[in-house]
Amino acid sequence: MARTLLTADLTAAQREEIRHLLDVAFLGNFSDDDWDHSLGGLHFLVEEQGTIVAHAAVVQRSFLHGDRTWRCGYVEAVAVHPDRRGQGFAADVMDAAEDIIDRSYDVGALSASAAGRGLYVARGWLPWLGRTAVLAPAGLTSTPEDDGSTFVRFLADGPHLDRAGTLACDFRNGDVW
Ligand SMILES: CC(C)(COP(=O)(O)OP(=O)(O)OC[C@H]1O[C@@H](n2cnc3c(N)ncnc32)[C@H](O)[C@@H]1OP(=O)(O)O)[C@@H](O)C(=O)NCCC(=O)NCCS
Repeated sequence: MARTLLTADLTAAQREEIRHLLDVAFLGNFSDDDWDHSLGGLHFLVEEQGTIVAHAAVVQRSFLHGDRTWRCGYVEAVAVHPDRRGQGFAADVMDAAEDIIDRSYDVGALSASAAGRGLYVARGWLPWLGRTAVLAPAGLTSTPEDDGSTFVRFLADGPHLDRAGTLACDFRNGDVW
């Protein structure tokens, strides 16, 4: 079972430990912008003997779809230590993240890595079928490189976005999705 902590509740040592886990799990491909995207919301942690072995974060983003904005719980920085994979720890942090998303947001979304794709599909996350875009400073800009890796999650009795339509995220530094 995962612990849930606000970014504001993390100690400096916990921040450092999570960042280190992400650097190891993503083989050095986790940038400072990626880290920045993981902050400001909630963190889900699995610890073994006092060591953080799995992490996910959910941050709030504003998405444009149809003629309105949607409050999105966006999943970031899902990682399990390479020595601890295949034991359900990613499932533990995703259980906690999805519970928060289902109770707080209109829609859940994430950008799946090649390694993460199977995990999300197995958990019922749905690929976005239409175009993705970003509300960039210059205006609405397509993000075709993200069309195949964007996944969403809706509550059975909540609002359903038209997955064949265009989904635009808010702008941020680094990878926008
Ligand atoms: C992706 C990652 C978090 C999965 O960690 P893990 O410890 O293997 O995941 P779990 O053991 O909790 O797996 C949970 C379930 O998902 C399934 N699963 C996990 N990864 C999968 C994959 N790549 N393809 C298909 N199914 C997968 C498992 O079989 C398991 O199913 P089960 O409960 O029916 O047995 C881990 O490989 C990782 O840290 N990768 C590097 C960082 C990364 O790419 N993160 C994803 C960012 S989007």
